[in-house]
Amino acid sequence: MRKIAVLTSGGDAPGMNAAIRAIVRTSLNNDTGIIGFKNGYEGIIDNEYVTFDKRSVGNIIQRGGSILHTSRSLRFLKKKYRQVAENNLRALCIDGLIVIGGEGSTKGAIELSKISKTRCVVVPATIDRDMPLVGSTIGFDTAINTALSAIDKIRDTATTANVTHIVEVMGRDCGWLGIHAGIGAGAEVTIIPEVKIDITKLSKNIKNQLYRGKKGCIIILAEGGFPDGGQALADLLKEHDILDLRVTTLGHIQRGGNPSSVDRILATELGVDAVISLMNGASNVVIAKPINTIKRIDFEEIIKTDVKVDMYLHDLIENIA
Ligand code: F6P
Repeated sequence: MRKIAVLTSGGDAPGMNAAIRAIVRTSLNNDTGIIGFKNGYEGIIDNEYVTFDKRSVGNIIQRGGSILHTSRSLRFLKKKYRQVAENNLRALCIDGLIVIGGEGSTKGAIELSKISKTRCVVVPATIDRDMPLVGSTIGFDTAINTALSAIDKIRDTATTANVTHIVEVMGRDCGWLGIHAGIGAGAEVTIIPEVKIDITKLSKNIKNQLYRGKKGCIIILAEGGFPDGGQALADLLKEHDILDLRVTTLGHIQRGGNPSSVDRILATELGVDAVISLMNGASNVVIAKPINTIKRIDFEEIIKTDVKVDMYLHDLIENIA
């Protein structure tokens, strides 16, 4: 391959930089040029890019956000701008494009692939985990950890002061972030967009929990779970006699911060594979590492099997250093 381009698009997610680093180093190790378009798809339209060398991605694996910046490009929704982008990709001799982003960014890549000669792959990165089949997305684990550390603090005051708290988490119209935050925080209730809310049932549930001696409850409200948000839900619960309520919206703190180890490793593995798959001729695919399911392993099998570390990951450390 002569040249690959990478961009980060949509809502930024911790671990995007780790993916960029892996992509840049793997490309250069394989004598393939690599550029990065700035501001997501806007950068292809405006021909704004940086040419990477190995040092340009030094010291970024631990940083949140994206050194390439992101955008939600409205222009890219229009065919005429996608054609401008395609012309720019041709003029720059880009053979492969790697889009790091979520659901909307994948749709953008699918639309581009209909008119483009450039082979395109997607590396899933979004705190929402709102993509089918792919397992976890880059940024999801960090966002949960950020949410949990905030909810743990709320739990301290909720229990001490015996007050029920509604904590709003992000996720757009997908409940994954809410479910993981709910399990991890030991929440009493989690409301997600996928399940229609029943206010009578919810208020009975909270009252029962308080009656059973709980000191304050935590209700996780995933974005999209209640049409008008946490305060409106609190107002409604007050009408059902749950009077002492507080609302916290965690908001964009869930999008920032140093990526967790899980996200750094996932981003590195997916980034490396995105380049290798392009070099092997792949096109129009999402690079993913679906989560393993629970297994029941016989004692006998455990006892006769040696522990093996992942030598592929071990070798990656030096290969992309
Ligand atoms: O997609 C990530 C996300 O943080 C969603 O959870 C949220 O709905 C949205 O982006 C917020 O987007 P913006 O930062 O553009 O307001």
